[in-house]
Amino acid sequence: LKTIPLFSELDDDALNDIARMMVRQTYKKDNMVLIEEEVGSTMFIILSGRVKISRISDEGREVILSILVDGDFFGEMSILDGQTRSANAVTLEDTELLLIHRENFLRILHDYPQVAINLLKELAHRLRRSDEQIKSLSLQNAMGKVASTLLRIADDSGIIKQGQVEIPQLPPQQDLANMAGTSRETISRVIKSLGQLGYVKKEGSKLIILDYDKFREDFS
Ligand code: CMP
Repeated sequence: LKTIPLFSELDDDALNDIARMMVRQTYKKDNMVLIEEEVGSTMFIILSGRVKISRISDEGREVILSILVDGDFFGEMSILDGQTRSANAVTLEDTELLLIHRENFLRILHDYPQVAINLLKELAHRLRRSDEQIKSLSLQNAMGKVASTLLRIADDSGIIKQGQVEIPQLPPQQDLANMAGTSRETISRVIKSLGQLGYVKKEGSKLIILDYDKFREDFS
């Protein structure tokens, strides 16, 4: 539990107490963990694997809100505001989750205020990302939309190396399109153009942003 940001700065006694309130469960790839609009009273922490958070638009198009990785949590919104699930959550690979029931999570927040502070920090981070996403969806042209989506992925899961940022596993083009609010063809065209302009280099499923500072300056 020590490595989970939500529980950082807690001592061993607190971690042991919290561990007793959680159940570990393994989900196969492509398993629907949460369904939009359903009632729910459990929250989840990712121990290993990846989970896609998405909604389906009125026209039936999938909109990817985020791809969460180990150490991240989800399912907290319904617990906090008592409303139905705000999005779908689907495993992208075999994934191990910790499940916490509503009453236990509320007790943890009450007994360990540091967890509440860590939770609020992450919610602030997610709100900032959503603000960026709104700005990019409403204001930018195709290249800007794709570039700011790549920046979001780089900031979440990129590896920094001497001014470069490497995204080890770029999501499939259709997923990128759904994240950027554009088409698969546009993704392919823009990534090619970004390559020709010297901003990025693609090596298989890896994408390298060659000068991160310049990329950010030009596209955010
Ligand atoms: P809940 O509404 O209970 O169920 C769906 C979950 O998806 C939600 O809680 C959050 O944990 C997660 N979620 C919803 N929107 C976002 C977002 N924009 N970024 C990351 N996670 C999200």
